[in-house]
Amino acid sequence: NALKHTMSPELPLLLGVMGDPVIQSKSPVMHQAALRASGLAGTYVPLHVEARRLEEAIMGVRALGFRGVNVTVPHKVDCIPFLDEVDEGARAIGAVNTIVNDGGRLKGYNTDGIGYIRSLKEEAVSDLAGKNVLVLGSGGAARGIVHALLGENPGRVTVANRTADKARSLAAEWSGLGPLRGCGMEEIAGILPEIDILINTTSVGMYPHPGQTPIDPALLPSGIVVSDLIYNPLKTELLIRAEQKGCRIHNGLGMFVYQGGYAFEYWTGLTAPVEAMRNAVLGTLG
Ligand code: ATR
Repeated sequence: NALKHTMSPELPLLLGVMGDPVIQSKSPVMHQAALRASGLAGTYVPLHVEARRLEEAIMGVRALGFRGVNVTVPHKVDCIPFLDEVDEGARAIGAVNTIVNDGGRLKGYNTDGIGYIRSLKEEAVSDLAGKNVLVLGSGGAARGIVHALLGENPGRVTVANRTADKARSLAAEWSGLGPLRGCGMEEIAGILPEIDILINTTSVGMYPHPGQTPIDPALLPSGIVVSDLIYNPLKTELLIRAEQKGCRIHNGLGMFVYQGGYAFEYWTGLTAPVEAMRNAVLGTLG
């Protein structure tokens, strides 16, 4: 039962997202739709939390009896010391996007990487085993995705980053998890011919700069899968150019829906109504 963990089961389920800024977040619209579709009495609110107030805000989750919150930019890393427990995957990734309050005990999870992999498998590549993957970027989003990807028995995974040392140190940190290497952007022309899937985790091409691409699209081999974490716009310039070159394309909408879906399942114990959630997000996009 969704309400069995709350202190006062007769009260509505309280959920929200902490960020700064938070006004742009599509999580409230998506989770309100999920609550409605599931027939749950509850609410999911945007919570504008400044970095200097983060600890107080997380204590507020306990004090106010929130069942859980999502955590977004810039708090995904800094919230960790204020939690009672952190899931093993989130600990390895070094970032939390979902907090669950079990009777005052706060546990952190990271659903971004698993949400992404579920979307990629459903929409583009059903079996990732043996696939060679190139990941652009090595920030928080890339860490979540690479961690989940290495659990899928891929072929070689290469992380390429503008700041090459960041990609190399990530590869060194997780060398025990699978065949991972890190490099700078200048090396990707030599790597692209041997890859099956390209994943952009950088913000290059995101609204309000939709015309930009993280790499020269002329380098894209035809026939590969090109995936972009961005979902606003739904089709980035990278995906437009990839499609023109005969690549299969995959956008970030499914990742956003499924990271929210897994969070909803942690909070409620119910299967997330992902189609209602997807439609709610789509309704906010142009
Ligand atoms: P996120 O949580 O979205 O991953 P992040 O941790 O700030 O955000 O990481 C952003 C990633 O996008 C980094 O890999 C960054 O490269 P650097 O490490 O060199 O900064 C990459 N990135 C951001 N803007 C970029 C740009 N204009 N060109 C290339 N890479 C960019």
